[in-house]
Formats: sequence, structure tokens, C-alpha cells
Amino acid sequence: MSDFFSLKFEYDYFVYINQTKLPLEEVYIKTDEYERIAVAIERLEVRGAPAIGITAAYGITVAMKNISDDYETQFYKAYERLKRTRPTAVNLFWALDVMKKVFESVDNYDGIYEKLKTSAIEIHNEDIKSCEAMGVNGVELFAKDSVILTHCNTGQLATGGSGTAFSVIKKGFETGKVKFVYSDETRPLLQGSRLTAFELSKSNIPFEMLPDSAAAFLMKQRKIDAVITGADRIAKNGDTANKIGTYNLAILCNFYKIPFYIAAPISTIDFSINSGEEIDIEMRGSEEMSYIRGVQVTKEEYSAYTPAFDVTPNELISAIITDKQVHKPPYNF
Ligand code: MRU
Repeated sequence: MSDFFSLKFEYDYFVYINQTKLPLEEVYIKTDEYERIAVAIERLEVRGAPAIGITAAYGITVAMKNISDDYETQFYKAYERLKRTRPTAVNLFWALDVMKKVFESVDNYDGIYEKLKTSAIEIHNEDIKSCEAMGVNGVELFAKDSVILTHCNTGQLATGGSGTAFSVIKKGFETGKVKFVYSDETRPLLQGSRLTAFELSKSNIPFEMLPDSAAAFLMKQRKIDAVITGADRIAKNGDTANKIGTYNLAILCNFYKIPFYIAAPISTIDFSINSGEEIDIEMRGSEEMSYIRGVQVTKEEYSAYTPAFDVTPNELISAIITDKQVHKPPYNF
């Protein structure tokens, strides 16, 4: 059992750990304001595709707390605000649409807050189950004593439960299939060296951090049995958007003949798009390169190219692990 939690809904407040402070400080924030929740998503205080979806569901719930008239104006205002927070992780739109269907299905708005709360909790509970299922399904792909490389953060912090790729790694460790993990640093916001390292350490899984730029040399020098990452959006043909740098790893795996796996819940599959070409890739500000935790490291006037995600083409993905099953190519969701 971990001694921290990523997010929860307690006594009608949304409570979450501020991920921008980790691992040096464990600071929790409690709010019942949807605007504060929207800002938390934008600032990556809460991040990771499934966690963003769950957070948005709780966000729209608190927007309807203590409302006694003009329900529709308030609901759609919060819905549109939360929808604008981040463009790539489809779980955000999926969760908001589940909540919209609940809102639009009622004949009158008596008790609407309680109904929305129940649905948000259901989304959260479903994610906990999906995480467990991904762990069980994915671990079958690993041989005994595997050495795994992962990118970004896909654990408890990024989901409502035990994680996506992280859940597979954890299950692997518990069953003797994973003996060591390399955690990519994940520039520029360091989700790997700050958050995955924190979670690996809390789970007592042996690991080392890896500068992103060292992956090719590592693969050449030492045996890496598999690379596994999460996803922010998967197209019907299996093309997968995930944290910038994932595509580099998939190309390296192809070169070195190392299996490259994706783990994601069904809610990360966007059944409305045929290929990765249609995925909206979020661009972040150049200050994320010029400052690290508020410390300036280069000149502000230098501009930067800063996509938050890239798209790995399906032909580079050895398997996609969902909560339902392990999918092998060719993908046809
Ligand atoms: O920008 P972030 O930190 O929200 O990006 C997160 C990722 O890219 C994760 O790998 C992805 O959401 C899968 S996680 C469960």
C-alpha cells in the first residue's frame, strides 16, 4: 500500500496531490471550485490521461454543488471550461461527455449534484478496476527477470488506480517477471525523474533514472527486454499519442529488435479517428525549457519547439494492452 494518494473526492471536495511539487514536497490541495480544478489540469498539478478524465468529472460535479437555479448555464460553462484545459488526452473529453449525458438525461434538476457525483465516482472506480486488469493482462508479455524501460509517468499519479504501464511493471515485479526498471527522465517537465522515480521508490522496485538522450546507448550496452509506456490517445488503427519522446523509443526498439508495448484503458481509444494524423498535439510554452522549478537555466529570448506529445505509428507497436485484452497488430479498434 502506498502512503500517498493522487486524487480523491472526500466530503464533497476534490483533493489531490500537487504533482508539480513532487518528489521534493508532498503537498495536497483541497477545492470545490471548478475553475481551480481547470487550472490544476492546465498547470499539470494533476496530469496523466486517466487522471485528467477523472479530475474533469469531479470538476463538473463541484460546479453543480450548491446551485439552485440556472442549472444549464452553469453546467455548460463548466463543461466548456474544463474541455479547453488540454487538447490531447481523449480521456478528458470522454469523461466530460459521460457527465454531459447524465446531465441531459434527467427530467428535472432536483438532486442533479448527487447524480453527477455518483457518476464521477463510478468513472473513478472503473479506472481503478481497469488499472488492475491492465496489470494482469500485460504481465503475460514479460519473460522472467525482465529489465524494462519506461517513459513519462503512468502510475498511481497518472490514473485513479495503480496505473497503466506502471501497473504492468508493478504486477511484473510482484510476480518475478520484472527485476529492474529504467525510468526515462522525460524532458522538459521531468515526469520520469520526479514522478515515476517517486512511485518506483515507494513500491520498492529497483530502478535507475535515465537521461532521455541515453536510451540508444543503454540499449546498445545492456539488455533491455521491453519498453512499455502509456498513451494519451489511440486512433482506430493503433497510432498512439503519448509523451514527447515515446516515438524516439519506438524507433530505437525497432532498430534493436526490442518489443515496444503500450498500456491504456479503453477510454484512451478514440473511436472517432482513423489515424494519428487526426490527433491534436498540445504545444507548451518555451518557459518550460528555460525554467526548471522556477530556476532560470537559459535566456528567455531563446524560443523553443515544445510539443507535449508525439504520435508513434502503429507499425512500431508490438502490442497494445487494454483492460479488456492484449491486442496484437494489425490493430483495428
Ligand atoms: O503531459 P502529461 O504528463 O499529462 O503526459 C502524460 C503522459 O504522456 C502519460 O504517459 C499518459 O497520460 C499515459 S498515463 C497513464
